Amino acid sequence: MRFIIIVLCGILIFSSCRNKSKQKNDTVSDNMFMAEVSRVYGFKCAICHGKEGVSVIKTAPNLTESQMTLEERIAIIKYGKTSMPPQKDVLDAKTIKGLALYIERFK
Ligand code: HEC
Repeated sequence: MRFIIIVLCGILIFSSCRNKSKQKNDTVSDNMFMAEVSRVYGFKCAICHGKEGVSVIKTAPNLTESQMTLEERIAIIKYGKTSMPPQKDVLDAKTIKGLALYIERFK
């Protein structure tokens, strides 16, 4: 009986360690993903919206002042509007969502 309890404890400790290391990997790859998104923003969006979200062309709104929800931002990045170019055939859905999240930090 004692042996079974010891084995069970061992399994518990082992699996909780495994979960921790998985979480760590997720944050590392999240950081890498956001670094990639930041790079994409730099060459795809900054020409109009500026590096820090302060617009450099007249017609592009300052992203620092955007009142849009996450869904609205995803939609405008996907489908574009007037001179804002659509990205749905250029970027994958994950990167588009990443961009919509990334521009939050300009506020
Ligand atoms: C050619 C210039 C140009 C580029 C490049 C560009 N945008 Fe825009 N963007 C605009 C213009 C112009 C608007 C305003 C569209 C309208 O409302 O008619 C806009 C609007 C937006 C809005 C809505 C802001 C608001 O609150 O009204 C978001 C979000 C946005 N752009 C994000 C991006 C992202 C992310 C990228 C890079 C993938 C990007 N834009 C690339 C010109 C551009």
